[in-house]
Amino acid sequence: MNATPAPAPSAAPPLPLRSLGGLPLVGVLPELQKDPLGVMERGTLNYGPMVRMPLPLGVEAFLISEPQLVEHVLVTNSRNYVKQTRGYEMLRKVLGNGLVTSEGDFWKRQRRIAQPAFHRERLFAFGETMTRAATDMVDGWKSGQTFDVADAFMRVTLRLVGETLLSSDVTSAASEVGQAITVALEHLIHRTLHPFSFPEWVPTPTNLAFKKALHQLDSVVMGMIATRREGKGPTNDLLAMLMEARDPETGEGMSDEQLRDEVMTIFLAGHETTANALAWTVMLLGKSPAVEQRLMKELNEVLGGRVPTMSDVPKLTYTAMVLKESMRLYPPVWSLARRVEEDDVVDGVVFPKGAIVFICPYALHRHPKYWKDPEAFDPERFAADAPPPTKGAYLPFSMGQRKCIGDTFAMVEAQLVLATVLQRMHLSLVPGQAFAPEPVITLRPLGGVKVVATKR
Ligand code: HEM
Repeated sequence: MNATPAPAPSAAPPLPLRSLGGLPLVGVLPELQKDPLGVMERGTLNYGPMVRMPLPLGVEAFLISEPQLVEHVLVTNSRNYVKQTRGYEMLRKVLGNGLVTSEGDFWKRQRRIAQPAFHRERLFAFGETMTRAATDMVDGWKSGQTFDVADAFMRVTLRLVGETLLSSDVTSAASEVGQAITVALEHLIHRTLHPFSFPEWVPTPTNLAFKKALHQLDSVVMGMIATRREGKGPTNDLLAMLMEARDPETGEGMSDEQLRDEVMTIFLAGHETTANALAWTVMLLGKSPAVEQRLMKELNEVLGGRVPTMSDVPKLTYTAMVLKESMRLYPPVWSLARRVEEDDVVDGVVFPKGAIVFICPYALHRHPKYWKDPEAFDPERFAADAPPPTKGAYLPFSMGQRKCIGDTFAMVEAQLVLATVLQRMHLSLVPGQAFAPEPVITLRPLGGVKVVATKR
C-alpha cells in the first residue's frame, strides 16, 4: 500500500520521547507477560502522550495516549497503519482472513458485502429473537440459585449470533464451543506474549489442546456452511449474503475457506465481546445499588413488567448509559495495535516504517485528563445533556473505517438482554470475588461473575 502521510495533528514542537525502559534484548516483554494491562496503563497514564515501548529483537513500538494521535492512527491516516502485527498474526490462526483480520481492497469488498446485514431495519427483525433467547435463559434460572452469569451471557450471545446472522442453532454445541474458544484465546494471547515458546508443530500439551479446539470450532462452522450448500436455510441472512456475493471481475463466489473465515469471525467477534460487556455490567451494578435502582426505575416506567421489544430500545436511555459506562471501565477490546506502513511524522516524532503502535482503550478510558473521577462508575457521563467524551478518548468499538461493524447490533442486544433479565431477576454478587480483568484478546472477568438470582 502506498500511504500518503497526513499532516501531523498539531504544529506543536517535537515531544521529548520517553521510554518505558525494560531490559536489553527483550525490552518490556517480561513485564508485558506478567501484567499486560498494568504496563499499558502505566505507559498511558504516566508517560503520555506517546512513549517508546521497547520490544524484543529491536522491534520499535510506541504506546499512544493522546486522543488526537489515536484519531490520526485510526482515522486520519489509517491507511498507513495496518494490521500486520504479531497479535493479528496469532488471531489469523483462528479467524483466517476474515473481516477483522483482512486488509486493503479485499477487506473493503468483504465489508461492503456484509454491511447490509447490520442495517438498522434488519436489526429490527432481530429484537424478538433476542428477547426470546434472554427469556429462555432466565426461565432456566431458579430463584436462590448461584451461578456464573458471565458463562450464561456467553451462551446466550453465542445463540443469538448463530440465530440472527447465520440462522443456525448452536445451543447444543454451546458448551463445547465455549470451552474451545477459551482454550483458543488463551493460547493466542500466550503465544503473542511469548514469542520464544515452542513452535506450533511441536506436540506440547498446549499446542495439542489448541489444535483440538480449532478443529472443534472448524467443524461447527463448516457444518453451518455445508447445510447451506445443500440448499437448506434462509436466503436473506448474513451467511446467505456472503454465499451469494460474486466477484465483479471473475463472477466467482467465495470458496468454502473464505466463507469459513468470515463465519468464524462473525461467530467469535459477534458474541464474546457482548457477553463480556454484559458480565462486567452485572458486576458493576452489583456494587452500585444506586445505579441499579435508577435502572430499575427506568425498566418499570418503560416496560412495566412486559418483555421489551425493539420499539422500546430508544426509550431505554439509562440502560444504554449504563452499558456505555460499563464499556468505559471494562472495554471488551482492551488494546489495539497497528504496524506503520511508511514513515510518518507525528508531532515532530517519526513513526518509522515497520514500528508497532499500541492504543489501550482500557487505559485511555481511565485517563484523568479526559475523565473526571475516572475510577467511579457513573452512567451520567453519557447522559444526553452531558458533554460528549473527548473524541479519541472513548473507543470501545474503535473508530475510523475499521470500526466495529456490529456496534449497533451489540448495543441493541445488550439493552434487550439486560432489560429482560433484570425485570425478572435481581442478581446479587456472591461475596469475596476479586473480579480481576483478564486480558485474553478480549477483557474477561477472571473466574467469571458469580451471582445469586432472586425472583423479583
Ligand atoms: C460490546 C460488543 C462489541 C465490542 C466492544 C466490539 C468491539 C470491536 C472493536 C474494538 C473492533 C475493532 C478491532 C480491531 O481494530 O481489530 C471490532 C471490530 C469488529 N467487530 Fe466488534 N465489537 C462488539 C460486538 C460485535 C458484534 C455483535 C459483531 C457482529 C455480530 C462484531 C463484529 C465485528 C467485526 C466483523 C469487526 C471487524 C470490522 C472491520 O474491520 O471491518 N462485533 N469490534
